[in-house]
Amino acid sequence: MKNFSFYSPTMIKFGRGSIINLQKLVEGRYKRVLLHYGGGSIKKNVIYKQTMEQLNTAGVQVFELGGVKPNPALSRVREGVRLAKENNIDLVLAVGGGSVIDSAKAIALGAMSDSDIWDFFLGKESVEKALPVGVVLTIPATGSEASMGSVVTNYDERQKLAVNHDILRPVFAIMDPEYSMTLPKEQTFSGVMDILSHIFERYFTNTENVELTDRLSEATIKTVINNAYILLKNPDDYNARAEIMLAGTIAHNGILGMGREDDWASHQLGHQLSALYGATHGETLGVIFPAWMKYVYRENLDIFNKFAVNIFGVSAFGNTREHVALEGIRRFEEFLKKIGLPRTLTEAGLPTNEFERMADLAVSMGSFGALKTIDREDAINIYKLAE
Ligand code: NZQ
Ligand code: ZN
Repeated sequence: MKNFSFYSPTMIKFGRGSIINLQKLVEGRYKRVLLHYGGGSIKKNVIYKQTMEQLNTAGVQVFELGGVKPNPALSRVREGVRLAKENNIDLVLAVGGGSVIDSAKAIALGAMSDSDIWDFFLGKESVEKALPVGVVLTIPATGSEASMGSVVTNYDERQKLAVNHDILRPVFAIMDPEYSMTLPKEQTFSGVMDILSHIFERYFTNTENVELTDRLSEATIKTVINNAYILLKNPDDYNARAEIMLAGTIAHNGILGMGREDDWASHQLGHQLSALYGATHGETLGVIFPAWMKYVYRENLDIFNKFAVNIFGVSAFGNTREHVALEGIRRFEEFLKKIGLPRTLTEAGLPTNEFERMADLAVSMGSFGALKTIDREDAINIYKLAE
């Protein structure tokens, strides 16, 4: 096990009706709140109304900035930074999913700096301070409600980049599983894939002697898969929604990565598909992960055997380790098919004649990954395997 530090300051209010806590979380602490949201789903369901009721009772002044699109744009972040500075905002409240939360985090960072916000993503500026960010979560997927990251896309440059710092972890997150019941089916299951991928990025490691986090990860993966099957039959099953929402936070608040070296190659490869073609984050991972697994499994047959046996019940008896590993990957692809996610670029309707362009973007800041270091040629090979 490696040495590590772990910091998870987010106050979580979880469960049915938990929006009721919002008033107390803001009252007396904040005066001028920037309410940040997406393309309008929160106005079609009850979430906007219930959030406003709480903010009004708390007596805070509310400034609104909606219109955040999936794979949030730098341009909207800049608009938010300007608004936050002009109005002396003291809390950025994200009501939405990863895109809204990430946009809110970037605004919170930019509002406390004289530099252009994109410089933080390019690594030209180091993160020192940011406004507090609060969250009302509407889709379990990214774990951004408690994570240290913000991922923003600069559409002019076709760059989707992340900035990571503990200071960006939200101060609170209201998580009502019922809020996720209005999600379209494809968003629910893209979210499921994203949650799994955050565990995979940590689980598939060369670090040895990490039994506890191995087992915690396996438990979380199995919980997500079991409850995804329940939601397939009954999208209104509260308990299944709750298990998946909780798993989304656990998957990416850092707890499952304690003492391990994480990978993140698949996210890096997937981000280029969003930057170039606007692909949904979870979908890109459903396409990339099986290809990445097939490309790298020989680097660590032990962990791929553990995955096959402990998650999918593949029998190790009488089978070669190679066979067991590949059977685990095959069963994972079968799961993706059952939940209706595309497993290849073709199934996702994404181009299959631009692998070099995708790979150039992916390595624009150098090679990446840990289980196996991925360079330009590897990236092309993985995209080809995903064809
Ligand atoms: O915009 P609205 O109208 O609200 O609709 C959204 C959006 O179209 C809709 N939606 C959300 N909650 C809903 C709902 N529709 C009906 N009912 C609800 N309750 O769902 C769509 C997708 O929303 P989005 O926020 O884009 O989804 P997600 O949470 O998957 O976020 C994806 C973004 O997060 C980044 C991704 O790269 C991507 O840009 N990530 C952030 C991470 C982090 N900060 O730690 C880690 C992740 O790996 C990821 O990279
Ligand atoms: Zn992700």
